Amino acid sequence: MKTQVAIIGAGPSGLLLGQLLHQAGIQTLILERQSADYVLGRIRAGVLEQGMVDLLREAGVSQRMDAEGLVHDGFELALNGQLTHIDLKALTGGQSVMVYGQTEVTRDLMDARAAAGAITLYNAREVQPHGLKTDQPWLTFEHEGETFRLECDYVAGCDGFHGVARQAIPAESLKVFERVYPFGWLGILADTPPVHEELVYAKHARGFALCSMRSPTRSRYYLQVPVEESVDAWSDQRFWDELKVRLPSHLAEQLVTGPSIEKSIAPLRSFVVEPMQYGRLFLLGDAAHIVPPTGAKGLNLAASDVSTLFRILLKVYREGRVELLEKYSEICLRRVWKAERFSWWMTSMLHQFPEADGFSQRIAESELAYFINSHAGRTTIAENYVGLPYEAIE
Ligand code: APR
Ligand code: PHB
Repeated sequence: MKTQVAIIGAGPSGLLLGQLLHQAGIQTLILERQSADYVLGRIRAGVLEQGMVDLLREAGVSQRMDAEGLVHDGFELALNGQLTHIDLKALTGGQSVMVYGQTEVTRDLMDARAAAGAITLYNAREVQPHGLKTDQPWLTFEHEGETFRLECDYVAGCDGFHGVARQAIPAESLKVFERVYPFGWLGILADTPPVHEELVYAKHARGFALCSMRSPTRSRYYLQVPVEESVDAWSDQRFWDELKVRLPSHLAEQLVTGPSIEKSIAPLRSFVVEPMQYGRLFLLGDAAHIVPPTGAKGLNLAASDVSTLFRILLKVYREGRVELLEKYSEICLRRVWKAERFSWWMTSMLHQFPEADGFSQRIAESELAYFINSHAGRTTIAENYVGLPYEAIE
């Protein structure tokens, strides 16, 4: 087997890169460990920056997003029982975000790939990259009981945090930066109308809470819980009761509750590896970096990596600009670290840290109060939330 760009992983990173390359006439083959249904069963984030929206439009997969996605011109921060509106549009000179679930983005990309006749091999096992420092790398893998060899020009490691791509890089060639937080997010999906028209990020003495949504009839809510918490300890009733306590009372009174259709706990982590390239292997998305979800940056960072690698590969194949390949990592990491900073900051400001002493807690409270009561502070939050610009590839 032979292709130009071998992609490991059919999450949003792999599928979006595959779609853009395919449209540009560059051959790809995607190897995915799970089945398509399994990939679509994962409930993940749902806020797209303008840059990602534009990229999905460029990739020709925006039809349903443009029809069904919810454009949000702002969001709310709840502190001491009061809402502060962060007017994204006014504070950023007209930018906004799109609320559209990652699951839907993935489904649209899968449909587009199938319609284009490009190949994704699901249930591909034992994927292993080889010869990454040579001009002719290859992957070995097992599919339906047979072993295959896939030769390629480049390998895109889009296989998430637990994938093989990053592990194929010798440990001494990678620098790892990591912070693990002492809490997780318990998330619930329910077919109930959202409590508020905007997303609400709430800081409360009992812990952080977030009110989000997927549509006018489907809500997504999260609660900060201790990292060792079990989802079995949380009946729907307990979840709704705790959420009400953490929301300003006027919102709690309006909250419509109902049976959950999904409930899960995700740990919070900040993680970056440097560099994001090893020979002809490039890491994208969660394979290279993780952010805590408080700034809604995970999916969006994956999209900016995809944009960067796509534009570089385009110039490599069309203009022979191979020197650009060496720039991939530094270009990505500049944006990655800014999003890491913002995600860490939002997390630090809005959560309760079990080990924090009284002084640290007061500092965090007053830092947040300062930011939300200052035009400059709100502008900083808004500018980061809508997403920092993508670097041009020249
Ligand atoms: N071989 C093949 N595929 C693999 C392997 C492997 N060894 N390991 C993992 N995969 C697949 C996973 O099954 C998954 O479908 O790679 C895919 C990775 O997808 P994601 O984890 O969704 O990562 P990514 O595409 O980078 O998406 C960006 O940002 O913060 C997040 O929630 C956000 O998941 C989103 C991510
Ligand atoms: C979500 O809707 O799942 C969501 C929204 C905003 C975040 C994180 C998650 O910051």
